[in-house]
Amino acid sequence: MQHFIETQQFTKESLTELFKLSSSLEGARERSLEGKILATLFYEPSTRTRLSFESAMMRLGGNVISVESARETSSDVKGETLEDTIRIIGQYADAIVLRHPEIGSAARAATVSKVPIINGGDGAGQHPTQALYDLYTIEREVGRIDGIHVAIVGDLKHGRAARSICYLLGKYDVRMTFVSPPELRMRDDIKEYLAEHEVPYSEVERLDGVMREADVVYQTRIQKERFASPEEYERLKDVYVIDRALADSMKEGAIIIHPLPRVGEIAEDVDDSPHAVYFKQVGYGVTVRMAILKTILGGESDILRPPAI
Ligand code: CP
Repeated sequence: MQHFIETQQFTKESLTELFKLSSSLEGARERSLEGKILATLFYEPSTRTRLSFESAMMRLGGNVISVESARETSSDVKGETLEDTIRIIGQYADAIVLRHPEIGSAARAATVSKVPIINGGDGAGQHPTQALYDLYTIEREVGRIDGIHVAIVGDLKHGRAARSICYLLGKYDVRMTFVSPPELRMRDDIKEYLAEHEVPYSEVERLDGVMREADVVYQTRIQKERFASPEEYERLKDVYVIDRALADSMKEGAIIIHPLPRVGEIAEDVDDSPHAVYFKQVGYGVTVRMAILKTILGGESDILRPPAI
């Protein structure tokens, strides 16, 4: 049984293998997971992660049971612990995709689960399947990962997808720039990881120069739900807005990606820019999640290492 909790479970070689499988699944409809049941258990709001996992499971011939808004609609309301909920759902389903507001919740769930846990976002911790399809998007749209300059922009302190992709990029020969206000800088654990893996990175506050230089601009949302102070959020929420002029300043072949949802940090008139691939990225999300489900439920290969829990 394989849990998928954090991106550190992948090696560069296993990423290549996963992306090869993903590529073979683009547009596929098959019956390889017929008879299998996926549970999606979401304690935080989601559009993409829950529905794309459900779509991926159905495209592979499997079935889905789902709890959305679990904080309001599950027996969490009556005081049931996450651990007991996982023990129960594990008797209804063959795998569980969990989204929960607490860092480490997916790892906690995995310690009691009899079925694979897939981390669909644990607070400001990690969002590993998001990072996988972010990286897949880069490979598909830029054509390579080694040798590129990636800028990650916005709320780097709270952004779990931004944290997760750093662990993946650390396996490649890339250069990174973190663009954020001082209050929202990338946390030290990620910077230490990059330093250990000899990935050159810098931290800047201005976006305009980076837009001209980067091969990939990974824009992120300022995460209102993670701020203790509403005033602080209001002060920072529009700190980086990519408008059409900024998009037009990018190098030929450079791309803008975003985990979405966006709430104003990319102007709508950027959407038809040749650099804008954030909606195409969503489609890659279904494909990569199909590959993850096939790996975990279909015994496709030994792609994943065990998580460090
Ligand atoms: N990117 C992402 O996780 O989107 P959702 O919150 O809609 O799932």
